[in-house]
Amino acid sequence: MAGNITFTMIKPKAVENGHIGNILAKVIEGGFKIKAMKYLRLTKEQAMEFYAVHKERPFYDELTDFMSSGPIVAAILEKENAVEDYRKLIGATNPAEAAEGTIRKLYATDIQANAVHGSDSDENAQIESNFFFSKLERF
Ligand code: CMP
Repeated sequence: MAGNITFTMIKPKAVENGHIGNILAKVIEGGFKIKAMKYLRLTKEQAMEFYAVHKERPFYDELTDFMSSGPIVAAILEKENAVEDYRKLIGATNPAEAAEGTIRKLYATDIQANAVHGSDSDENAQIESNFFFSKLERF
């Protein structure tokens, strides 16, 4: 059965470009409830731990430099079928391939600075949410 939470981050470039408000508006209009949220800057080590599944990929060092280059917004989102529905709302990883009206099509600049992260499975939604949030920070 599909789970009802997903985890997202608004990435440093989208924050720097002033898109936090517009992205959160799309998320809420899309029917997602914010269960937890924080504004923070990851250290390089924290970004490496978060993206450890990609450590063998050629873009890992650059990605983790980028993700620790400035503040992000991290959030747990709640909705029925959250992982799949959120991936539809944000669009393809590469914004050049993202559908019209999706968050990445509207606010991303390239495949690395692709505006937002979204969990790719229910299992990773739990792992990623637990990376950032304690039980006391969820509502
Ligand atoms: P995200 O959804 O955060 O998950 C992994 C991230 O790796 C992805 O978004 C992109 O930011 C990044 N990524 C994936 N593929 C590439 C690539 N080919 N080149 C650079 N970055 C990539």
